[in-house]
Amino acid sequence: MSRKPILITGGCGFVGRHLIKGLLPRKIPIWVIDDLSTGKHPDVWLNLKNGWKKRERRNGVISYYKEEIEINFIQSNALPIFLDMTDKTNRYSLPCFSDLFHLASIVGGRSMIDGDPMLVGFDLAIDSALFLWLTRHRDTAERILYASSSAAYPTQLQVNSVPVALKEEFIKFDGGSLGQPDMTYGWSKMTGEYLSFLAHQRYGLHIACVRPFSGYGEDQDISYPVPAIARRIAMRKNPIEVWGSGRQGRDFIYIDDVIDIMLLVLDKIYNGRGINIGTGRLTSFLEIIEVFKKLEGYDAEIQSLPDKPVGVQLRFADTSELFKVIGKQNFTSLENGLKKVLDFAHSEINNKPISLF
Ligand SMILES: NC(=O)c1ccc[n+]([C@@H]2O[C@H](COP(=O)([O-])OP(=O)(O)OC[C@H]3O[C@@H](n4cnc5c(N)ncnc54)[C@H](O)[C@@H]3O)[C@@H](O)[C@H]2O)c1
Repeated sequence: MSRKPILITGGCGFVGRHLIKGLLPRKIPIWVIDDLSTGKHPDVWLNLKNGWKKRERRNGVISYYKEEIEINFIQSNALPIFLDMTDKTNRYSLPCFSDLFHLASIVGGRSMIDGDPMLVGFDLAIDSALFLWLTRHRDTAERILYASSSAAYPTQLQVNSVPVALKEEFIKFDGGSLGQPDMTYGWSKMTGEYLSFLAHQRYGLHIACVRPFSGYGEDQDISYPVPAIARRIAMRKNPIEVWGSGRQGRDFIYIDDVIDIMLLVLDKIYNGRGINIGTGRLTSFLEIIEVFKKLEGYDAEIQSLPDKPVGVQLRFADTSELFKVIGKQNFTSLENGLKKVLDFAHSEINNKPISLF
C-alpha cells in the first residue's frame, strides 16, 4: 500500500468524519478540504481534549497530530483550489496523494434538493473543476473515489406500483440508455459519473464511483430523516411527526458499512464505473419509527405532514453486482444501527455528545 497522503474533499461532513475514523488505523497523513458550509470544524469532532495537538501554519493549513497520526485541514471552497491546482498555483503546498476521496458536495437533505435546485447544481462546477485538475496533472492521485448517489438513478423506476431494485446497468454511458435522475442533485451525480468514465477511458485514471443509498449513523445532521426522528423519539414527543405518509421506502445502510464498502470498492474498481452501496432491504419511515419506539420503550401517535417534500416513493438497491465485486457482506442490523443513532441523540440532548474519535 502506498504511504503517500490521502485527500478527502468534504471531509468534515457526515461521511467524511466517519471515513477519517475508518482510515486512522492506517496511520497515513490525511488532508481535508472543506468550506464548512454544512460540515463541522475538526476542533469539534476531533475532540481536542482527547490528546490531539493543533498547529496553525502560515499558509492557512491547520494541522492536528496525535501519536503517529496527522490530519491537515484547509478551510476553503474546493472550487478555487481545484482551479488553482489546474494552473499549478499550489498555495497550500498540496503533495501528491495515494487516494483521493471526493465527497465535497451540496447535499442538505430533501428540503434543499427540492427547495434550492440551483444551489445544489453548483455541484456540477465543483466536480468538473476537480476532473480538469486531475486530468491535467495525472500524478495528483494514484486512485480516486467519486461519491455519486442512488439519486442518479431514473426516478420513473422509483414509483409505488412495482418495486424495482435499482441495478448498476440502469445507468450506462457506452451506448446504454439513461433516465431522468432526481433533481439537479441526481443530474450532477450522473454527470460526475460520466466525467469519471471519461477520466478513465480517455486519460487512464484509476477511478471508482459509488452510489450510496440512505446512509445513516451517529453524528448525522438533523436535516436528514433518521437523526431527526431519533431526536423526536429521544425527547419522547407525542405525536411523532413524519414527512408525507411515512410509507415512502428507502434502503437504509449504517455508515460504518458504507465506509467499509467504499474502501473495498477502491481496491476492485478502476475503470470509472459506478457501484451500489445499499443492503437491498426496503424499509419505510413508519417502520423506522416503530424500531425506535421499541428501543426507547414508549408509544406515541404518528402525525403525518403531507405538505413536506418526500422525494420518490421507493428507492432500494440490487446488491448482486456489489457482492460480485467485493463478496457477500454482513450488514449491521437496522436495530443495532438505529440503537447507536438513538444513543447519540440522547447524548446530544444531554449536552454530552459521544465523540467518534
Ligand atoms: N450520506 C449518504 O447517505 C449519502 C448518500 C448518497 C451520496 N452521498 C454523497 O457522499 C458525499 C458526502 O455526503 P455527506 O452525507 O457526508 O454530506 P455532508 O453534507 O455531510 O458533507 C458534505 C461536505 O462537503 C462540504 N462542502 C460542500 N460544498 C463544498 C465546497 N464547494 N468546497 C468544500 N467543501 C464543500 C460540506 O461543508 C460538508 O462538510 C456527498 O458527495 C454525497 O452526495 C452521501
